[in-house]
Amino acid sequence: MRIAMIGTGYVGLVAGACFSEFGHHVTCVDKDERKIAALHAGKMPIYEPGLDDLVGNNVRGGRLDFTTDLAGPVKDADAVFIAVGTPTARHGEGHADLTYVFAAAEEVAASLSGYTVVVTKSTVPVGTGRKVHKIISEKAPGADFDVASNPEFLREGAAINDFMRPDRVVVGAESDRCRAVLRDLYRPLFLNETPILMTSLETAELTKYAANAFLATKITFINEIADLCEATGADVQEVARGIGLDGRIGKKFLHAGPGYGGSCFPKDTLALVHQGREHDTPLRIVETVVAVNDDRKVRMAERIVHACGGSVQGKTIAVLGLTFKPNTDDMREAPSLVIVPALQKVGARIRAFDPEGMSEAKKHAELDGVAFCNNAYETMEGADALVILTEWNEFRSLDLERARSLLRDPVMVDLRNIYRPEEVVAAGFSYTSVGRRAVAPPKRPRSVSLGGR
Ligand code: UDX
Repeated sequence: MRIAMIGTGYVGLVAGACFSEFGHHVTCVDKDERKIAALHAGKMPIYEPGLDDLVGNNVRGGRLDFTTDLAGPVKDADAVFIAVGTPTARHGEGHADLTYVFAAAEEVAASLSGYTVVVTKSTVPVGTGRKVHKIISEKAPGADFDVASNPEFLREGAAINDFMRPDRVVVGAESDRCRAVLRDLYRPLFLNETPILMTSLETAELTKYAANAFLATKITFINEIADLCEATGADVQEVARGIGLDGRIGKKFLHAGPGYGGSCFPKDTLALVHQGREHDTPLRIVETVVAVNDDRKVRMAERIVHACGGSVQGKTIAVLGLTFKPNTDDMREAPSLVIVPALQKVGARIRAFDPEGMSEAKKHAELDGVAFCNNAYETMEGADALVILTEWNEFRSLDLERARSLLRDPVMVDLRNIYRPEEVVAAGFSYTSVGRRAVAPPKRPRSVSLGGR
């Protein structure tokens, strides 16, 4: 089958490359000439493990191509995917900005030829598929097309595996002909017996928001339980295991931390809240999740100040990890963008390092004034405390002796719980984590003098 993928952001590029790996012929279209030129040169616009090889192999195999010209690939396509951004609108109450989706629909309409399925892959509010249908019908009255909704559930950092081995595929489609095209596109997954849910457009659109909001709720729930653990002496990791082994709850997404970030959860929870209000069915749980998560990032800065003895005025804090999670260079809504400025505001100097996120981080005004370092140990030199913000693997087994010798004060704040308190304390640190009691190394016994001699 021939696919035109409009938009080479995270979802568009990964989905395009994966569909070509399934054997389809995919042309990825983007207005950004520099991005397309870079892709032609084999350079990926994002850091995603395995993506460069996947793209390279399929380009060489003649199944994957990139262009700024939308008309040609759309004319030839059996399916056109709209995978452009749906950011939170700048002025408003959290609703998704659909300008790019509707603009893409208009452009697609002008070039349709023969029966084509136009698929929204971007996360779009309920009702958008019908609007896309209307736009195309008005612009191209005679066009032979259907609109489908096929939300994407991939995670950054694990995107290829998530696309190739999904828990399920959700397809909103309302004619047999349209469903048949989508079935053909996902044929390799059918053979693997991946559940493929055929639903209405509205159900597919809402399923995506409900999934993200539920996961965001699960994280926020365990984060609040972590606070209660700290206050009562319980251990959140044991609580998470204790509840997660209950099959009805499940173990995943119960890691307490500094609050969720990224390109999806913050934007999609806000957009869902907005949709609830618009339809006069307020989603009070999700509203609370949004508020609790926003607040949490500020509380994390307070926690660091507290671990530093109540003030960071004039102190230097070494921050490891800036991206919203590991294995990505994505800085969108990263907790670091709130925590770092909050610490600077109360007088801290920040030294920071991230394995892949440095060039993205440097573009963020929130991080102005940060001294960016070349590796974890350089970051620690002369700092008064060490803070782990993102759980990159390379931070999981730091040489604690060396870290201690580089730091002015052996204070560690681990906001991802990647260390065991005993081992950090044994290395002479005072250790603050999330949902576990803060611990300090045992005081050295004072030298006792019994006089005499
Ligand atoms: C998410 C969804 O998982 C994916 O299905 C959807 O398509 C896009 O949004 P992503 O944003 O890439 O994917 O990252 P994810 O791994 O879900 O993490 C999101 C945020 O939650 C991160 O900030 C992460 O640190 C945080 N998180 C996740 C926790 O704090 N605890 C957890 O247990 C899991």
